[in-house]
Amino acid sequence: MRIAVLGLGAVGKGVLRVLAEKPELGLVLTGVADSASGWIDPDGIDPGEVLDRKCTTNRCGTAGLTADDILDAGEFDVLVEVTPTNASTGEPALTYIRRALISGHHVVTSNKGPIAIAHAELEDLAREQGVALRYEATVGGAIPVIHAIRSGLLGNRAHAITGVLNGTCNYILTRMDEEGLTYDQALAEARELGYAEADPTYDVRGIDAAIKLVILANTCWNLGVTLNDVSITGIDCLTVDALRLAADQDCTIRLIAEASPERGQIRVAPRVLPRTHPLVIEGTLNAVTLSMDLAGEVTLMGRGAGSRETASAIVGDLLAIRDRFIECG
Ligand code: HSE
Repeated sequence: MRIAVLGLGAVGKGVLRVLAEKPELGLVLTGVADSASGWIDPDGIDPGEVLDRKCTTNRCGTAGLTADDILDAGEFDVLVEVTPTNASTGEPALTYIRRALISGHHVVTSNKGPIAIAHAELEDLAREQGVALRYEATVGGAIPVIHAIRSGLLGNRAHAITGVLNGTCNYILTRMDEEGLTYDQALAEARELGYAEADPTYDVRGIDAAIKLVILANTCWNLGVTLNDVSITGIDCLTVDALRLAADQDCTIRLIAEASPERGQIRVAPRVLPRTHPLVIEGTLNAVTLSMDLAGEVTLMGRGAGSRETASAIVGDLLAIRDRFIECG
């Protein structure tokens, strides 16, 4: 199966590393573009060579060759769209995804902006064109939560989704709780370790978790909710004293995203939870509990971010497309 990768940041590099490591997966790179250059070869491009070029020249290919050129050439089966997220407009990723779907190509993306903004439109477009749109990597990094909703728990009706969807906030709360660090000290650590978004206010004010909750809610119930529908309280005003008070009752605080159409609720807010609660997880981990009518509560937990972890979700989506559309015709 031929793939073209748009974006060569941490996620794009992670995908190329997996392609280089696992040629047996049969995922052939035929196009790649970063913000300054690109490379198209219908016969296949060595992903290791792209990574070396990127490392030595900060370009992946020929200067001036762009994402639009890759889309114009159309020499791929699946577009892997992993350019930086724009939560307000979804662009330019939204246009790349629309273009690929309209021209009859499958799309796999890790980009939260376009999926949170235009989920219904993009799903309709994919259906009309008879192609797949998959976005497991937008929520929970390596955790296969969208796969669970769409396949693993088929036949169930979901009553509620509850989760820890932002690793940066979880890391900050863990450090404040365990080491007594102030909010500012813990945030500085999270930034230094590269967990936070380029603008960490997206993390600490709960916006990143709310975007992921919108994606999960629309995947689960197709309600067409947007970020404006989510009631959001972040962790930026939490003090060490609040965590100490919770600790006195053998509890702690976590930033919890929860959606339940039955309760008319979609919100992100800090919540006091017993330490034994399944969503009291440590550090940058993410976790999601799906409350289902048949299965009961299913909690998935794992690494919510990282180059390799996100690549795991993307490769899983690619292979699901290959199995459904390419090998079976
Ligand atoms: N900044 C995000 C987080 C990265 O901390 O969870 C993954 O979306």
